[in-house]
Amino acid sequence: MTPNLVTVFGGSGFIGRQVVRRLAALGCQVRVAGRDPETALPLKTAGDVGQIAPVQANIRHEKSVRAAIDGADAVVNLTGILYEGENQRFETVHAMGAKRIAEAAAAAGVASLVHMSALGISSDEDAARYAQSKAAGEDAVRKAFPDAVIVRPSVVFGPQDDFFNRFAGMMQYAPVLPAIGGGEQKFQPVYVGDVAAAIVKGLTDPSTAGETYELGGPTVYSFRELMQLIMRELDTHVGFIPVPFEIAKVMAFFMQLLPVPPLTVDQVRLLQNDNICDGTLPGLTELGIEPTAAEAIIPSYLDIYRKGGRFSQPSRA
Ligand SMILES: NC(=O)c1ccc[n+]([C@@H]2O[C@H](COP(=O)([O-])OP(=O)(O)OC[C@H]3O[C@@H](n4cnc5c(N)ncnc54)[C@H](OP(=O)(O)O)[C@@H]3O)[C@@H](O)[C@H]2O)c1
Repeated sequence: MTPNLVTVFGGSGFIGRQVVRRLAALGCQVRVAGRDPETALPLKTAGDVGQIAPVQANIRHEKSVRAAIDGADAVVNLTGILYEGENQRFETVHAMGAKRIAEAAAAAGVASLVHMSALGISSDEDAARYAQSKAAGEDAVRKAFPDAVIVRPSVVFGPQDDFFNRFAGMMQYAPVLPAIGGGEQKFQPVYVGDVAAAIVKGLTDPSTAGETYELGGPTVYSFRELMQLIMRELDTHVGFIPVPFEIAKVMAFFMQLLPVPPLTVDQVRLLQNDNICDGTLPGLTELGIEPTAAEAIIPSYLDIYRKGGRFSQPSRA
């Protein structure tokens, strides 16, 4: 069942832009809800006139969430942060915001809700606060909207991603890279197009209701192997300096004082665990999506670094 009107919170973000484009291609009307609707304006060209409508909504403010959901048949929550700011706390965005959206969707009689979580979530007190807040968000969503579809991706790659672009950019000027904890932690990078397809499936296929999916690509890599993959693409070589976790936390403590911190103590905590599907939950295959290999996609967008380009903040279009 294709919904008529879908509200996508976080639709202007890296994953959100792909989801909005797919929904528009399916013929849905799409409301792109975010704090600054101007950031979603370039997306309007992905649909017919009036098909994609940016609206103002801050998930920390209930009234704006309700207004953004009013009249929608389906809702997607793709909001999230990687580090905290003065008002943007993990708890308020990932837990309270998620709860607010799920409760408002249930109250409005929305037919389907897809909630974006992450691999590696945990309620343990000593887990990263990112992971704890995502776990609290999932619990709140399940309680308020039991039929919600929850997706937990590993690191997501694709044009304008933060991960491969960041490290490819660093390799242009850094002769060595820090390998936090030795760089042996494992990732299962998943293509943004596959994640967007999974989300659309969660909105349109009633058999997915109430399920939680772990989304990973076809290959598991250690951090070092991922860096080697980038080096091969760029035809370059940089060395690794192993940095023990406790030293990385001290470095991150100072780095997180920067307005856009390159590393935080909480992120170091996240790196202490692998970020891979554990195989107990359904994933892309069960959704009928064949996982795309990183090797098939990353050459297309890392090419700019090969030619001596520089990493710049990706355009939101
Ligand atoms: N990218 C990955 O590798 C990855 C991996 C696992 C899980 N995830 C999860 O996937 C989701 C999307 O990630 P992404 O990579 O697309 O991130 P992104 O590009 O940073 O997008 C995040 C979106 O959230 C919105 N947002 C943040 N705070 C908000 C608030 N208070 N009210 C309304 N909107 C708010 C942002 O819009 P404004 O800031 O403009 O308001 C932006 O559109 C997040 O939940 C993230 O945790 C991502």
